[in-house]
Amino acid sequence: MSASDWWKGAVIYQIYPRSFLDTNGDGIGDLRGVTARLDHVARLGVDAIWLCPFFVSPQRDFGYDVADHQRVDPIFGSMADFDALLARAHAFGLKVLIDQVWSHTSERHPWFLASRASRTNPKSDWYVWADPAADGSPPNNWLSVFGGAAWTWEPRRRQYYLHHFLSQQPALNLHNPAVADAMLETARFWLDRGVDGFRLDAVDFLLHDKVLRSNPPAPAQGEIPAKLFAMQLHLHDMLQPEALGILARIRGLMDLYPGTATLGEISSQPGAYERLVLCTQGSHRLHMAYTLRPLRGGFDGASVTGLLRDLVAADDDGWICWSFSNHDVERAISRWNPQRGEAPPDPAFARLLMALLLSLRGSVCLYQGEELGLPEADLAEADLRDPFGIAYWPEFRGRDGSRTPMPWVAAECHGGFTTAETPWLPMPPAHRMLAADAQEAEPGSLLHAYRRFLHWRRGVPPLLRGSLRPIALPEPLVGFVRELDGQRVLAVFNLSGQTIAFDRQAFGRLTVLEASGFADTGACLPPFGAWFAALEPAAALVPAPSGD
Ligand code: BGC
Repeated sequence: MSASDWWKGAVIYQIYPRSFLDTNGDGIGDLRGVTARLDHVARLGVDAIWLCPFFVSPQRDFGYDVADHQRVDPIFGSMADFDALLARAHAFGLKVLIDQVWSHTSERHPWFLASRASRTNPKSDWYVWADPAADGSPPNNWLSVFGGAAWTWEPRRRQYYLHHFLSQQPALNLHNPAVADAMLETARFWLDRGVDGFRLDAVDFLLHDKVLRSNPPAPAQGEIPAKLFAMQLHLHDMLQPEALGILARIRGLMDLYPGTATLGEISSQPGAYERLVLCTQGSHRLHMAYTLRPLRGGFDGASVTGLLRDLVAADDDGWICWSFSNHDVERAISRWNPQRGEAPPDPAFARLLMALLLSLRGSVCLYQGEELGLPEADLAEADLRDPFGIAYWPEFRGRDGSRTPMPWVAAECHGGFTTAETPWLPMPPAHRMLAADAQEAEPGSLLHAYRRFLHWRRGVPPLLRGSLRPIALPEPLVGFVRELDGQRVLAVFNLSGQTIAFDRQAFGRLTVLEASGFADTGACLPPFGAWFAALEPAAALVPAPSGD
């Protein structure tokens, strides 16, 4: 592997700056806070950070509504703060990926202010404008992900504009090459400043059908869903194959900056893995991508086996990045908690998720707080800030539960996140108990388990870049073999809360890899246990059934 391939098998720690550490006492995390705690990230043994948006923004969608791509929002600090963060990260040997949002901007972006002013100005077609239908209603049936029509009326132009998310996030018209040129300039600006790449937001929304055909309905699902977006097949508003041309332009720029990488976000719409491969295969597209698809399913034997099957099927040429938790979804240990609703997640379950996430073929995104085992915060309606959650409460509780502040110091108010009386989102008392300093002092903590596992994984090449072959095991066990250059590592996971017998004789001679932090427990796997072993070359393996 060359140095420019660092991203293959890398672990990328996702930082949501609003909730990392507040250094100026306004209740909102900032860039100086990120810099101050980079030692925590570096000690974990990860390779890179992904920094969620910190650009000038009205914060309607908490930074995913960018009003100036090349300036730091004062709530997060200054450009000097960013440069200091970058320098510190590099001094720790951490690569820095920042967010780029290509599909839309804020309605306050100067491009949109110009575009909406008339039908004839030079930026008039930088966004997606359309005349109303004959009865004044929107041009077609497209829906916004966040609810309601994807069209908002603009009286100044006497036209509708498209927005896939909030009405304050007008969609850019990337069919116009001048728009892609302008976005590439913003990317160049940050590359010249020294960033190591980008996480590209909402790749499936880059382009829409030019003639604005309405979407067909999705097959009926029985009850009407709370989120109407699920009632359409999104053939025309998103998922346009020409988007690959834009990805190729982005890659062309990245290739001028050797050692940089891109990480795309692929939606959970059907065909997610196939699109992920399309977007990352060959050397003219993105380097890697993650999809929210597996996060929508369950966590039983069948789902995990299905996930492995999808991975194997999709694994031709593209490069997956796994993300079990992030700022858009319920935290994994709560979402998949087998005792859901009845008891807090078992600490052994958090370890199992860690072991599985970090053993899959691909790269990995680790979301801040995942290393502490933070469960989803159970917030009251009055605490909500996410417009998506506010609109849908209680049918859908929004994304605030995974965005609450990081607990650093158990004994301090708000876990040491802020000195403000009220942080922008509250910190649940249970999170304070899981604070980084408390886990630091406890050798058996999840934080230490993450460090141990990540450091061990670095020295096991099959886990970084090896192939993955599922093996047939009786439920609730799942397992696979990772192989590279003849070196084979067997990984077995017990998805249940019971001790399960496990016949290791079938695998011939092997050496248990206890440095992973998972002990040799003989002929059984403890509840939510994981087990790693190096296989002797001759060991015969039973492949997993195809599941067809
Ligand atoms: C981001 C979300 C955001 C949406 C619209 C995404 O997929 O991760 O947080 O709300 O794009 O920009």
